[in-house]
Amino acid sequence: MDIVNPLAEAYANHFTSPDDALLAEIAASTAATHAHAHMLSGHVQGKFLEMISCLVQPRRILEIGTFTGYSALCLAKGLLKDGKIHTIEVRDQDASVAQANFNRSIDAGKIILHVGDALSIIPGLNETWDIVFIDADKVNYTHYYQLVLPMVRPGGLIIADNVLFHGQVLQEPVSGKNAKAIQAFNEYVLQDASVEKVLLTVRDGLLMIRKK
Ligand SMILES: C[S@@+](CC[C@H](N)C(=O)[O-])C[C@H]1O[C@@H](n2cnc3c(N)ncnc32)[C@H](O)[C@@H]1O
Repeated sequence: MDIVNPLAEAYANHFTSPDDALLAEIAASTAATHAHAHMLSGHVQGKFLEMISCLVQPRRILEIGTFTGYSALCLAKGLLKDGKIHTIEVRDQDASVAQANFNRSIDAGKIILHVGDALSIIPGLNETWDIVFIDADKVNYTHYYQLVLPMVRPGGLIIADNVLFHGQVLQEPVSGKNAKAIQAFNEYVLQDASVEKVLLTVRDGLLMIRKK
């Protein structure tokens, strides 16, 4: 199901600043070589993440779900001089492509890639997060949220991707384990009075959550 009218999507693409050369190349090579290329955030969402990061000027960002590194590079653009982004990827093959991409970036020194299961890596990261981007396995979104929220500074942001899950959360009853997990996550955040939230219909849905 197209969540956003394809004409509106194309229009948004046209009126959004272009990707830099490295991001454009990563998007093109991922599309040409990866069986799951649709997982990459893409131009408009990538610029949105960059814009948020530039506004927040974070010292510490956590990304859960690196894939080929596109969104980590977008988020890294807003980091302070001494800022760092930690990004976690469970698949060795994707992690090595991402690392090769990071090595070509002027922000390479600010990006720390962890290879392994985010659920076991996150508790070992002793940081206070300004921004967390949740973009990994859908069944664990609520676990990730519960794990990271205590480590987010007041006023900090959590951004969760795919919260419309290809439109499957709009169907009644919601079926399929991923769509059910996303629906449960959205409900969980809705009842959490410690955060403000807005669900944006960008691409596959972005839930922006600000800790009070
Ligand atoms: C949607 S893709 C991420 C896309 C990336 N953020 C971007 O916009 O370019 C999700 C990634 O999360 C990874 N992943 C899935 N489960 C994970 C886990 N438990 N721990 C770490 N990474 C995981 C997948 O291997 C996949 O590369």
